[in-house]
Amino acid sequence: MLMAKWSKFLSKDTTLLKTSEIRDLLKLTEGKNVISLAGGLPDPSTFPAEDIKNITDYVLQNYASRALQYSATAGIPELRKELVNLSSQRGITGINENNIFVTVGSQEALFMLFNIFVDPGDHVFVEMPSYLAALNILRARNPQFHGIPLTEKGPDLDKFEEELRRLKSEGKSPKLLYIIPTAQNPGGTTLDMEGRKRVLELASQYDFLIVEDDAYGFLVFEGESPAPIKALDKEGRVIYTGTFSKILAPGFRLGWIVADEEIIQNVELYKQNVDLHTPSFTQFIAAEAIKRNVIQNNIPRVRQLYREKRDVMLQAIEEYFPKDARWSKPVGGMFVFAWLPEKIDALNMLPKALERGVAYVPGSSFYYDYSGRNTMRLNFSFPPKEKLVEGIRILGQVIKEELA
Ligand SMILES: Cc1ncc(COP(=O)(O)O)c(C=O)c1O
Repeated sequence: MLMAKWSKFLSKDTTLLKTSEIRDLLKLTEGKNVISLAGGLPDPSTFPAEDIKNITDYVLQNYASRALQYSATAGIPELRKELVNLSSQRGITGINENNIFVTVGSQEALFMLFNIFVDPGDHVFVEMPSYLAALNILRARNPQFHGIPLTEKGPDLDKFEEELRRLKSEGKSPKLLYIIPTAQNPGGTTLDMEGRKRVLELASQYDFLIVEDDAYGFLVFEGESPAPIKALDKEGRVIYTGTFSKILAPGFRLGWIVADEEIIQNVELYKQNVDLHTPSFTQFIAAEAIKRNVIQNNIPRVRQLYREKRDVMLQAIEEYFPKDARWSKPVGGMFVFAWLPEKIDALNMLPKALERGVAYVPGSSFYYDYSGRNTMRLNFSFPPKEKLVEGIRILGQVIKEELA
């Protein structure tokens, strides 16, 4: 533990940021013989390294003077153009380059959007559970949170509407909904088309913005990936975020926003203060990767691998978890989410699991109010298949002992 020598100088905002006890716990396992189902990393075998090497040579030969130079805040024109094309493959049409903004991962997109739109006390809706790092950005904005419980079919829209009605009856207005409708992280759920339409209708009726996180939209490996809510949006109230992290390589730190031009202009103003622009070099490589179909050709491979790994994990859970546990059967993405018997406190159980050689993320981290104590998130994309089975076997034993 470092001495708190400089803490008196910290801004109030910084003191609001907490280090996570879970992260600290998991750090202790680094370098030890622990099977980690806690991470959120893609399988490195999915990185098209040889293609990236060839493209990098090409970019340096042909674009060095621009690829190594400062560039436009909203992104290089070549990539914005390619992202218009890539978006159309997700069903988002009727947009042009001015609706696209390139960011340092979709994490930066979420950071900027929540800072641009959310003031302390604003009424913000999130799924319960939802993506931890997005919740942390929101927490630092100090909004009034409203949770929408997740069912097997995505967020419970009846409950959502009920809460919207209640707010209205109190004369209050919702500001924003943050939603991951496809292969949700961590819940593993996918909202169907009817649900997507209803969310958009509610946004229009109650006049709020939707931030739609489509991190796993290209990673649906079973059935069709439903078009994002953005594809249905006629009013421009949906702000869509996408990422190269799961379809090319997270090390590129590249993501993007699709939004109404006026919103893009606000993001541009904000980003000038953050980092001027996203690195030019990786943008040139990503643009070329789309142009050469490297990403499109890679996606089926990634899907196939993750489907296999999901099946291995689900089969092991079926075999080793107690019968009264429930778990998601994700049609895409990288995670299974488990609801254990109420008696289990997944946070308290973690040190024991680590001792026995397996790590997971306690689900309470994914609830804005830290409820969901009996839940856990399990990653299947990174560990090798045999480790998935072994990890779940050990975890099943730990859970059963805890229940006994
Ligand atoms: C739902 C979701 N949104 C956003 C991100 C951020 O990813 P990146 O910043 O790498 O684009 C992740 C990463 O795991 C995620 O799961």
